[in-house]
Amino acid sequence: MPQVKSGKARRGKDGKLLVPDQESWAINIEAKRQESIGLARAIGIEIVDARIVTLPRLNPSELFGSGKVIEIAGQIAAQDIDLVMVDHQLSPIQQRNLEKSWKVKVLDRTGLILEIFGDRAQTREGRLQVELAHLNYQKSRLVRSWTHLERQRGGAGFMGGPGETQIESDRRQIQDRIIAIEKRLAKVVKTRELHRQGRGKVPYPVVAFVGYTNAGKSTLFNKVSGADVFAQDLLFATLDPTMREIELPSGAKIILSDTVGFISELPTMLVAAFRATLEEVLSADLIIHVRDIASPNSEEQCKDVEKVLAELGVKVGELQHDMLEVWNKADLLSAEERQHLQILEEGNENALMVSSLSGEGVEELLAKIDEVLSSAHSVLNVSISPRDGRLLSWLYEHGLVLGRTDQDDGTMLFETRLSAKDKALLERQLHGTQSAIVG
Ligand code: GTP
Repeated sequence: MPQVKSGKARRGKDGKLLVPDQESWAINIEAKRQESIGLARAIGIEIVDARIVTLPRLNPSELFGSGKVIEIAGQIAAQDIDLVMVDHQLSPIQQRNLEKSWKVKVLDRTGLILEIFGDRAQTREGRLQVELAHLNYQKSRLVRSWTHLERQRGGAGFMGGPGETQIESDRRQIQDRIIAIEKRLAKVVKTRELHRQGRGKVPYPVVAFVGYTNAGKSTLFNKVSGADVFAQDLLFATLDPTMREIELPSGAKIILSDTVGFISELPTMLVAAFRATLEEVLSADLIIHVRDIASPNSEEQCKDVEKVLAELGVKVGELQHDMLEVWNKADLLSAEERQHLQILEEGNENALMVSSLSGEGVEELLAKIDEVLSSAHSVLNVSISPRDGRLLSWLYEHGLVLGRTDQDDGTMLFETRLSAKDKALLERQLHGTQSAIVG
């Protein structure tokens, strides 16, 4: 895995020489190496060697310098290796040249993530999104890597007109397929929206787990729900959200939803596929951010997740979305780290230290979910006069209607569950009308 060493010494504002923090640089790189190994294992690749290559400069034709290419070629031949994954973006030309020099298949980061997404996608939308991303990837490879091979088709040029090249027709075929998939996707998205609305009528709050890939969401989900969701040491073990109904200590029921893991430097063409699976989060009553607190990159991962959530439109702290942080993998902490984090946890009422493996902190988490949900939502009886049609539609849009009784005079009695913010809004709208909260 090549790294361009950016930790060169430079001068600060006062002219003093700044020495880069070599130790944290090394930790960071090692964590990236581990992440790459995890990515490759996620699709069952057997790893023979994983190494960090420092590049003094990027070579446009092969990425690596020629000496390094020869050295790696020797190892490939000696160890009978048949796939090399380069955890870096490769241009189509670099990829082709490396494949020629090494005589093996070469995958870059985007290619690998596409393989993983393709392997994991379960819903129709997930699969279509991945196929679309794959086609877009192929299209760019096709255009740039084949230009030197361009062939004139048929000589006489009667098929497709003069000047038509094989590459153009291949491109057009891919483009046709892209258009067809986009059409199907639009339909699937509409259906999903309808399903979500249907689920919105389930009278339980939805609690969604989000988190960086490998943070332990599925393990926690299993621990909490007793469900046998696919959990293993594979990055992206979950691409599509999974839902389970569980009962909290108070007896209240919730729907627990597990989502796909986040990853940094996600190839842009996969962002849509990834987001499609995450939109569910927006309609959750409570978001639980599961963090691998024992990872040396815990802080960076946390920032990545928060950034994507913000881009999706999750507004924490504005009464729109309640969020809790689970500091998972507490069992992996040293005594010293644990002590330090316990102090931070005590000062943060929205954070909880947990070990999904040992079960430590899981009961506290369930109690906390109970507490947050019961304070954030209340069940109200509302009487709506037939004259207040506007209020009626507002109630259906914002509240969860648990029951409705129509009286002879046309008045409707609703049992509804509302968030604190919507309750305040409703109270304001009731002023001067013949409708009222009756209990
Ligand atoms: P993605 O599906 O990639 O998003 O991963 P995830 O967040 O669902 O992680 P998953 O539950 O698959 O766990 C990843 C790895 O971490 C597995 O090997 C788990 O056994 C391990 N793991 C999860 N929770 C804990 C924990 O509390 N302690 C320890 N030591 N390992 C854990």
